[in-house]
Amino acid sequence: MSERIKTPRGTFDVLGEAALARAALEGTARGILERAGYERIETPTFEATALFARGVGESTDVVQKEMYTFDDGGGDSITLRPEGTAPVCRAYLEHGMHKLPQPVKLWYLSSFFRAERPQHGRYRQFWQIGAEAIGSDDPAVDAETILLLAEILEAIGVQARLRLSSLGTPDTRAEYKTELQAYLRAHEHALSGDVRDRIDLNPLRAFDADHAGTRQVMEGAPRLLDRLTDEDREHFEIVKALLDGAGLTYEIDTALVRGLDYYTRTVFEFTSDALGSQSGVGGGGRYDGLIEQIGGPHTPGMGWAAGVERMLLASPRQPVAPPPVDLYVAYAKPEYREEAFRLAADARRAGHATRLELGGRSLKGQLKQADRAGARYVAILGDEGTSLKDMESGEQKTVEPGTVMHHIRGTL
Ligand code: HAM
Repeated sequence: MSERIKTPRGTFDVLGEAALARAALEGTARGILERAGYERIETPTFEATALFARGVGESTDVVQKEMYTFDDGGGDSITLRPEGTAPVCRAYLEHGMHKLPQPVKLWYLSSFFRAERPQHGRYRQFWQIGAEAIGSDDPAVDAETILLLAEILEAIGVQARLRLSSLGTPDTRAEYKTELQAYLRAHEHALSGDVRDRIDLNPLRAFDADHAGTRQVMEGAPRLLDRLTDEDREHFEIVKALLDGAGLTYEIDTALVRGLDYYTRTVFEFTSDALGSQSGVGGGGRYDGLIEQIGGPHTPGMGWAAGVERMLLASPRQPVAPPPVDLYVAYAKPEYREEAFRLAADARRAGHATRLELGGRSLKGQLKQADRAGARYVAILGDEGTSLKDMESGEQKTVEPGTVMHHIRGTL
C-alpha cells in the first residue's frame, strides 16, 4: 500500500457534529449582522500581493512571514488572502460603492491563510466572520460594530473581555513612534534581541513581547493614548460614552497593539481565558487611511473579524441536533427500488426531508436506519403494497400507492 496522504500542517477537515456546531454559529452571526443591515460580501480567495503589502503593511508579521505568495504562472504575484479588510476595501473601490448611501455595511464568512506555527486555536487555514462599515467616521459606527460582535459572542455563550484603545491618526502615531524609539533605545540593554532588532521598523510591537525584561521596560513606556490630538480624544470619548450607554463593559488597554498596520483611532479586541495562549477571539478597529493606501480617495472605515474556530473553542459545547427527517423510504425487494426512488424524489420536491435506502440493507436493517435517523414516517414498499409507519405513534397502515404524500402532508 502506498503512503496515506493527510491534511497539510495547520489545516483540518470539518465534519459530523463539528460541522453542525459551525453551521449553528454561522446562522446566529448571520442573523445578528443581517438584522443590523449588513450585506454579505465574498471576495476571491487570492488577490494581487500588492493589496496586502500596501494595505496590511510591509512591516507586519503577516506580510513579512506569513503570506502564501506565488507566481500565478503569468509572472504576476498573487497571495492567498491572510485577512479580509483589504480585499473588502478593494471591492468597495472596484464597484464604486462610494455612490451608495454611506456607510456601506458588509459582512463576510470566509477562510483565510497564514503560514503561522500551528497550535491550539492557531491554524494555517482558518475561518473568520467579519464586518466592515465603510464611508463614515461617526464614532457611532465604532460603537455599533463593537456592540454587534459583543452580541454574537453573547449569543453563542462566549465569555470574553473587551479591551479598547485608540491609536490616533498616523501623524500622532509617527510622532509617538519617534518618542517610543528614543525610549526603547535608552533601555536597549534590557530588551529582547527580537524587540531590539525591530526598534526602527515596528517599535509598537514591543508592547506584545513575552520577554520579562522587555515587559518591565514597557511598563514605564510612554503611551500613545496620552498623546492623542483633541479631535481623536473626543472621538474616543464618544465611542466610550456610547458603549457605556449600551451597558457594555470594557477595559482601556493602553498597550493594545494590533498585528496589522492600517488601524487609526479606535482599536479593540475580545479575549477569552478559555483559549489559552491564543486568547484573541476577535478584534478590529478603524482604518481611515487604508483605502488611500490601496489607491482610492480618503475614505474612513471601521470593522472587525472573529475567528470561527476560536469562537467554537471558547463557547460551551452544546449538542446541536441534526436536521429532522420527515420520511424514510424503505423497500422489501430490489424490484421495488424504482418505485421507492420515485417516491423519495417526489417527496423531496414537495419539500419533505427524505432519505432513501441506498445501502442494500435488509428490510430490518432499513427500519433500524430509519429509527437511527429519527425519521418521523417510514414508507415501506413491498409485496403487500405500500405501508406507512408513523414512528411517533407506532401506528402502521396500508395506503394506496401514490398517496403517501397525501397522508403525511399537514402532519409534519
Ligand atoms: P486579526 O486580529 O488578524 O484581524 O484576526 C481576527 C481574528 O481571526 C483573531 O482574533 C482570531 O480569532 C482569528 N485568527 C487570526 N489568525 C488566526 C489563525 N492563524 N488561526 C485561527 N484563527 C485566527 C484581522 O484579520 C482584521 N482583518 C480584522 C479587522 C476587520 N479589522 C478591521 N476590520
